[in-house]
Amino acid sequence: MKTYLSILIVIISFGTWACNNEGNTRSNTASKIINPNGDSELALLMRAMFDDGMDMKTAIEKGQHPSTKVDYAKIFTATATEPDKAASPEFKAFADVYLEQMKALENCTTEEAAPIFKTMVTSCMNCHAAMCPGPMVRIKKLY
Ligand code: HEC
Repeated sequence: MKTYLSILIVIISFGTWACNNEGNTRSNTASKIINPNGDSELALLMRAMFDDGMDMKTAIEKGQHPSTKVDYAKIFTATATEPDKAASPEFKAFADVYLEQMKALENCTTEEAAPIFKTMVTSCMNCHAAMCPGPMVRIKKLY
């Protein structure tokens, strides 16, 4: 019963995870969270990026050219749960790398898609490792 409960808690917390739960102990930005109950634009975009990534992975596994349905350049303008974080030079640098990989993925041949896709997923992981470790377990599924 205990195990069942903790699994349930894990599942629930995944559904509502933003960065502010854990891995953010170096700052006390929790007090600055603008929208604690709703989801930020950036969180919604990230979820769409994850689903889109899953679709691209399936396409690549089928030997098809992956195509994206997400307006990923919005990563620069979407409002984040913690706006300070998304305004940082660190965030912009990681977002640039991610954007470059997405563009490469759109313009590559079907044969080149798998390794570029992997590099793109690594660009998600790198930003998350530095700024927002919570969702990394989930992002790993894209590999
Ligand atoms: C430039 C940094 C950066 C990059 C690159 C990045 N993320 Fe994120 N991600 C964030 C931040 C910051 C948040 C927290 C958003 C918020 O709460 O406003 C987040 C949140 C998330 C979440 C949790 C959303 C929720 O439900 O609250 C998921 C899932 C996620 N990202 C997946 C991805 C995937 C998949 C990629 C690559 C396709 C990616 N991220 C690339 C910074 C990044």
